[in-house]
Amino acid sequence: MNAIPITIETVAAVPAAMPTPTPAAATDVVNDVVSDTVTLPLDRQPTIRIIPMPADTNANGTIFGGWVMAQVDLAGSVPASERAMGRVVTVAVNSFLFKQPVFVGDLVSFYAQVIKTGRTSITVEVEVYAQRHRFGSEVVKVTEAVLTYVAIDENHKPRPLV
Ligand SMILES: CC(C)(COP(=O)(O)OP(=O)(O)OC[C@H]1O[C@@H](n2cnc3c(N)ncnc32)[C@H](O)[C@@H]1OP(=O)(O)O)[C@@H](O)C(=O)NCCC(=O)NCCS
Repeated sequence: MNAIPITIETVAAVPAAMPTPTPAAATDVVNDVVSDTVTLPLDRQPTIRIIPMPADTNANGTIFGGWVMAQVDLAGSVPASERAMGRVVTVAVNSFLFKQPVFVGDLVSFYAQVIKTGRTSITVEVEVYAQRHRFGSEVVKVTEAVLTYVAIDENHKPRPLV
């Protein structure tokens, strides 16, 4: 059998009007995925690293987007609460892009950094990378997001940054 390392999701993403991919076209898709391989940021540490489990999957068998969003929110809150020197809440998810799927067993690293501050708000960029199959050398950027947090006081009201 001529095995082609392509996921079901990748084939399913081809529009219905397109002809069934030939082996050559499928290889092109695989090559596109391979060309997305990157290296982890060397100049900073992830705020969270975690390995998703089967319980975190969606109906397709890949990792549920809501799981990724929850981890991103937690990861972004780390530099936000450090900058706020106290409690913060998420006020907005400004952008969120799922670039590649996450699979069970991937080692997923969340890198978060403050990109803007206001009177009470802190905007954080979160970049997410997956090391495929945990011990593999393939690294892909799976998600990028920007979220805004607000420093709050003990009454849950906005608190000016110092
Ligand atoms: C966050 C919260 C305290 C803000 O209260 P508020 O009375 O609306 O406060 P303000 O209108 O003064 O806005 C506070 C800051 O948020 C920013 N903000 C408000 N809405 C925003 C939006 N959609 N996008 C980006 N920033 C926003 C404001 O610009 C302001 O920033 P600045 O002080 O740096 O200029 C309040 O909306 C809240 O409690 N929301 C629920 C939070 C929550 O439960 N999150 C989920 C769990 S963590």
